Amino acid sequence: MNKKVLVCGGAGYIGSHTARLLTKRGYEPVIMDNLTTGHKDALPPGSTFYQVDCRERHLVRQILEYEKIDTIFHFAACSIVAESTENPRKYFTNNLNGTLALLEAMLTTATKKIVFSSSAAVYGNPEEIPIPDSQALEPINPYGESKMFIEKVLERYATAYGIKAVSLRYFNACGAWPDGSQGEDHHPETHLIPLVLKTALKQRDKIQIYGEDYPTRDGTPIRDYIHITDLAEAHLLAREYMESFSAPKHYNLGNGAGFSVKEVVQAAAAVTGCSIPFEISPRRPGDPAILVADAQSASAELGWKPELTTMEEMIESAWEWHKRHPHGFTG
Ligand code: UFG
Repeated sequence: MNKKVLVCGGAGYIGSHTARLLTKRGYEPVIMDNLTTGHKDALPPGSTFYQVDCRERHLVRQILEYEKIDTIFHFAACSIVAESTENPRKYFTNNLNGTLALLEAMLTTATKKIVFSSSAAVYGNPEEIPIPDSQALEPINPYGESKMFIEKVLERYATAYGIKAVSLRYFNACGAWPDGSQGEDHHPETHLIPLVLKTALKQRDKIQIYGEDYPTRDGTPIRDYIHITDLAEAHLLAREYMESFSAPKHYNLGNGAGFSVKEVVQAAAAVTGCSIPFEISPRRPGDPAILVADAQSASAELGWKPELTTMEEMIESAWEWHKRHPHGFTG
C-alpha cells in the first residue's frame, strides 16, 4: 500500500491530530494548508509542508504528481456555523471551490481516493435521536449546506469518474493529544470546551450558556462529544476501507451519548478543581436542542470503536493542553 497521503488543512485542529496519528502508523503525510486559521507549530515534526490553498488547482495537481499521493484527507474548510449565516458567500466559495479544485486535480492525476470532513450540521434539526446516517439531510445554515453539497458532488464523481470517496460526519470534536502536547487553538474560539477551560484558567470571567429553555433534561442543549484521537482513528480506517470498496460512503462519527452544556461545565469543574462561573444568555441562533449520533455503520463497516468516551477523559486531555499552552500555539 502506498502510504503517501495529502492532508489538506493539516495545520488545523482535526487535520493536525490526524496527521500525527498517520505519522505514528507509518504513513507519510504531506501537509497542505493556507495557514489562515491553522498553525505551523501543529504539524508533525519533519513532515513535508506546502503553504498552498486548495483552490490553487494547478499547484495541487503538481503536488499530487510530484509527491505521488495515494489518498487525500480533506479537512480544509471554513467551519464557524454562526459566521456562515452572516457571510454565506465565504462558506460557499471557500468550501465548495476548494473541494472542486481538489477533485479537478484528482481527475487528471493518479490520486483517486478522498476522505472528506463532513459534519452533523448536514442534518439540521434531526427527526430522530440518535441520528442514523440514513436520515434526510436538511441543513439549516450555509456551513451545513456546503458540507451537504460536497457530499453530493463526491457521490456523483465516484459514480461517474471512479473516484473513491468516504464522507465522515463529525459530531462535536473535542480533547487533545493525551499528553497535552497538541490541542485545540481557534481564533476566535467559539467552542464550548475550550471556552470553559479558559474560564477555569481565569482568562475569562465566566462562560455564557446559550439558552436554558430547551426541551432537554436540564434545559441546555445536548451534544455528542467525540475525542479527537478517536476521530483521527476513523480516518485511517476509512482509508483502509477504500482498499476493498469503491462505492461512495458516509458515516456518522460520535459516541452515541449526549452531554448537556451544564453537564460539560460541571465535569470541567470536577476535573480541573477550579470554579467555573456561568451566566445564562439568550439562545444562539441555529443551535438544535439535541444532536446525538447513531454511529452503528462506522462500527460495523469500518470497525471503528471510540476509546475515550467519558466526559472526564475528554476534558482531562483538553485540560492538559490548555494548562501547558495557556495561549495556544503562540504561548
Ligand atoms: N455553547 C454555550 N456557550 C458557549 C459556546 C457554546 O452555551 O460559549 C453551547 C452551544 O450553544 C451548543 C454547545 O455549547 O449547545 C456546543 O457548542 P459548540 O460551539 O462547541 O459546538 P456546536 O455544536 O455549535 O458545533 C460543532 C462544530 C460545528 C459543527 C457542529 C455539528 O463546531 O462545526 O458541531 O454539530 F457543525
